[in-house]
Amino acid sequence: MPKILISEKIDPVCPQLFQEAGFQVDIKPGLELDELMKIIGEYDGLVVRSATKVTADLLAKAANLKIVGRAGAGVDTIDVAAATAANVKVMNTPGQNANGVAELVFGLMFALVRHIVDGCSSLKEGRWEKNKLAGTELLGKTIGVIGYGAIGRRVGAMAQGIGMSVLAYDPYLNENQIRAAGARPAALDEIYSGSDFITLHLPKTPETTNMICAETFAKMKPGAYLINCARGGLVNEDDLAGALKDGKLAGAAMDVFSKEPLEANNPLLALDNFIGMPHVGASTAESQVNVAVAVAKQMIAYFQKGAMEGVVNA
Ligand SMILES: NC(=O)c1ccc[n+]([C@@H]2O[C@H](COP(=O)([O-])OP(=O)(O)OC[C@H]3O[C@@H](n4cnc5c(N)ncnc54)[C@H](O)[C@@H]3O)[C@@H](O)[C@H]2O)c1
Repeated sequence: MPKILISEKIDPVCPQLFQEAGFQVDIKPGLELDELMKIIGEYDGLVVRSATKVTADLLAKAANLKIVGRAGAGVDTIDVAAATAANVKVMNTPGQNANGVAELVFGLMFALVRHIVDGCSSLKEGRWEKNKLAGTELLGKTIGVIGYGAIGRRVGAMAQGIGMSVLAYDPYLNENQIRAAGARPAALDEIYSGSDFITLHLPKTPETTNMICAETFAKMKPGAYLINCARGGLVNEDDLAGALKDGKLAGAAMDVFSKEPLEANNPLLALDNFIGMPHVGASTAESQVNVAVAVAKQMIAYFQKGAMEGVVNA
C-alpha cells in the first residue's frame, strides 16, 4: 500500500481518509528542508499546503515519490518543472477554498470603504470620530476581476448580489465563458480605466509578477481601490505605496505580500489607506476541511485508479 507523508498541519479528515482507504500515513508538520530530505525517499505521496517548499533538491531525494498533493490552489511553492522531469505528478485542489477567499475580499472591501479598521481602533482608544469615518457604498460601483477562475467567479457572483457591475479579464477563457459566469469580458486596459475596485485572482507566473505597478496605477481611475488576495509579487509594493500616498488610489487591501511574513519596514504599513491580513484567505474552518477532503480523495483515486483530477503536469 502507498505510504503518504503529510508535511504540514492539515484537518484530521485528510489522514483519516487515507487510513480508511488502507494507506499508511505519517504526519510530520514543521520539518526543516534537510530533515525532510532525509525521509522523503520512503514515501509514495506527499501532501503539502503552502509552507513546504518542494524544490528540485528535495525531489532529487524522493526516489519513490509519485505525487505531490497541494491542499489548496497555488503551486508556486512547488518546482513543477523539476517534478515533471522526475516523473512526479503535482496535483492541486482549485475551487475548494474559493468561497473563503471571496468572502475575505468582500470583508476587506467593506472595511476599506467604511473605514472599519480605523473606526474600531479609535473607538477602543476612547474617540468618537463620526465625521472622520464617513464612507462610500459598493452598490452601483464597478469591480474589475483579473483572473476569472474559481475565486474570481465567486467574487463576481457575490458582487452581482450586492448590485455591482462586474468586468472580468482572463486570457484563458473565451468571452462566452466569462459571460456565462456572470461578468462582462474586458481587456486589461478597460479593467484599469473602468473599475472602481480592482481585485486580483490570477496565479503568480513570470508574466504576471509585478504586473500591477506604477505604469498600471497610472491607467486606473483616480480614487480606485486595489485588492490582492491572490499572490504576493503580483503587485509592486513600492509603487503601490506611492499610488496610495499621492492619492491616485483611495485605498488598497492585501492578504498576500512579496515577502511573507511581512517585513516591518514594508512601506505599506505606514499608510492609513492600506489594510492587510497575514495570508489568511483560505483560513476558514470550511475551506480547510474542503481542501483536506479534496486532496485525500484525489490522491487516493490517483493511486487506486490512475485518476488525474487536479494534476497540473499531466
Ligand atoms: N489568499 C489566499 O490565502 C489564497 C487562497 C487560495 C488561492 N489563492 C490564490 O488565488 C489565485 C486564484 O486561485 P483560484 O483558486 O481562483 O485559481 P483558478 O486556477 O481557479 O483561477 C485562476 C484563473 O486565473 C487565470 N489566469 C491565468 N493567467 C492569467 C493572466 N495572465 N491574466 C489573467 N488571468 C489569468 C486562469 O485562466 C484562471 O481562470 C491564485 O493565485 C491562488 O494561489 C490565494
